[in-house]
Amino acid sequence: MVTRILVLMTPLAACAATSGGPVTFSKDVAPIFQKSCQTCHHPGTSAPMSLMTYAEARPWARAIKERVARRDMPPWHLDKTVGIRQYKNDRSLSDEQIATIVQWVDAGAPEGNPSDMPPPLTFAELLLSVELFSATTPPVSLKMPPPLFVAELAPSVELFSVAVPWL
Ligand code: HEC
Repeated sequence: MVTRILVLMTPLAACAATSGGPVTFSKDVAPIFQKSCQTCHHPGTSAPMSLMTYAEARPWARAIKERVARRDMPPWHLDKTVGIRQYKNDRSLSDEQIATIVQWVDAGAPEGNPSDMPPPLTFAELLLSVELFSATTPPVSLKMPPPLFVAELAPSVELFSVAVPWL
């Protein structure tokens, strides 16, 4: 006679065990938002909403889960499996950070203890990172030659051929 025992470890149980307690905005999610979201998601930017506080983030919980799980947000379009993989300003999320956010939303997006919140980023810090993000003096500047039209192929398309100095 064979006895089969099935042991199921859910990721939720495993994670709660390692982090010691339920995932909350104040303790777990706010630090991630500070590093990877608030540069764009603060008042006065082109992003649709601010993610600076719990009250601001809470109504967006479902959308946040969706966009983060799809790796749509934060925008980071570099393929991590080829070429250069480490960037100084890499703001993409690790699998673990995505799991934390998903877990937070699935648990009803709780605030937790407000005293666990990291000190808020100041506006100057945010301005600085926005400046870096949209630097007006790029490291390389290339001149565009007059465009080439291939009318019979696509009259509304302009083709440019630009020589880059590092090739
Ligand atoms: C580089 C700037 C930038 C960063 C960093 C960024 N976002 Fe965004 N986000 C945007 C912009 C611009 C939009 C509006 C365009 C769009 O929907 O794609 C947006 C849209 C969204 C939306 C959809 C809102 C809606 O109207 O449904 C969500 C949710 C979101 N961001 C969450 C996040 C989260 C969470 C992070 C961090 C993990 C993050 N974003 C990081 C710029 C950013």
